[in-house]
Amino acid sequence: MINLKLRKWQISDADSIVKYANNEKIRAFMSDGFPNPFTYEKALNFIKNISANPCNHYFAITINDEAVGGIGISVQTDVHRKNAELGYWLAADFWGKGIVTQAVKEIVDYGFKNCDIVRIFARPFANNIASHRVLQKAGLNLEATLKNAVFKNGEYFDELIYSVFKAEMSH
Ligand SMILES: CC(C)(COP(=O)(O)OP(=O)(O)OC[C@H]1O[C@@H](n2cnc3c(N)ncnc32)[C@H](O)[C@@H]1OP(=O)(O)O)[C@@H](O)C(=O)NCCC(=O)NCCS
Repeated sequence: MINLKLRKWQISDADSIVKYANNEKIRAFMSDGFPNPFTYEKALNFIKNISANPCNHYFAITINDEAVGGIGISVQTDVHRKNAELGYWLAADFWGKGIVTQAVKEIVDYGFKNCDIVRIFARPFANNIASHRVLQKAGLNLEATLKNAVFKNGEYFDELIYSVFKAEMSH
């Protein structure tokens, strides 16, 4: 049994971020805002500034209390304010054990209970098969494909939009 928990980021997690997030296999599927390299200073900065924006609800994915990944929702603004965007990453050593599927289920539940939102969406690149599977297994539905919307590492990719609605969760 994996001792998986989502918890608040702690200053002491900065070393784990440096250890696990500096991986091209992770970076290839993240936006370019994901630091490269993810230095100790950048990790510390990320952890310290997490609570600066109350719309962001970012958690560490922990196994036996070691931070091995991150997951979060970001409540949108203006006319999109009833939506939150979901994002996540996990240390490669732990892939394929159902960890992020479980984490997505938990944060979707958390988001609908704690934020004034009706829709949670994610935007994986078309080539990110593992992420599509995670979203499908966690109950999100494919809504749209945006052709060549992503330019990553010198290549164009389609962007997929998956979503789940609060109304779908209550029954
Ligand atoms: C995507 C990611 C979060 C998945 O985390 P995880 O804990 O390994 O996911 P799970 O174990 O819950 O599920 C992964 C599923 O994808 C499947 N999968 C993985 N790679 C696959 C591939 N190349 N082809 C087909 N299926 C694949 C697994 O078999 C599993 O499905 P299954 O349970 O039906 O067998 C992790 O791979 C990661 O951090 N990737 C890099 C960062 C990233 O992509 N972030 C998301 C950006 S949208």
